[in-house]
Amino acid sequence: MPLAKAASNVRENAYAPYSNFKVGAALRSASGAVYTGCNVENVAYPEGTCAEAGAIAAMIAAGDSIITEAYVIADSPTPVTPCGGCRQKLAEFGAGEVKVTMATTDGGELVMCLAELLPGAFSQDHMDNS
Ligand code: THU
Repeated sequence: MPLAKAASNVRENAYAPYSNFKVGAALRSASGAVYTGCNVENVAYPEGTCAEAGAIAAMIAAGDSIITEAYVIADSPTPVTPCGGCRQKLAEFGAGEVKVTMATTDGGELVMCLAELLPGAFSQDHMDNS
């Protein structure tokens, strides 16, 4: 299934009673499999868990770990960009050139690669002296 369709479908399942802002995310892995996630909020931590983090959790739970493409969709005036924490999580499992498409439900799209979303990312290399 195309990532756009998978992300759009899973967005319908988002649990976002506090923000009323539903987000869907879909990842393709090196194996070709597609993993999806939606945001899940709760009363104690209304920001909850992001859609991207949900999709990553599904990928890891399935025994997969290399992201080759990502897609995020929300009903926003401009394409929603992943939060800082999700950028780091995406960078953990995807190379810098991995394409991330950010979309609005009315058809807007912004495409950036992971290295653009998280320039100067902290990585394992920074710990080489330790
Ligand atoms: N959210 C995501 O799921 N992904 C993003 O990239 C940005 C924000 C969610 C978290 C929370 O449920 C709601 O959007 C408002 O922050």
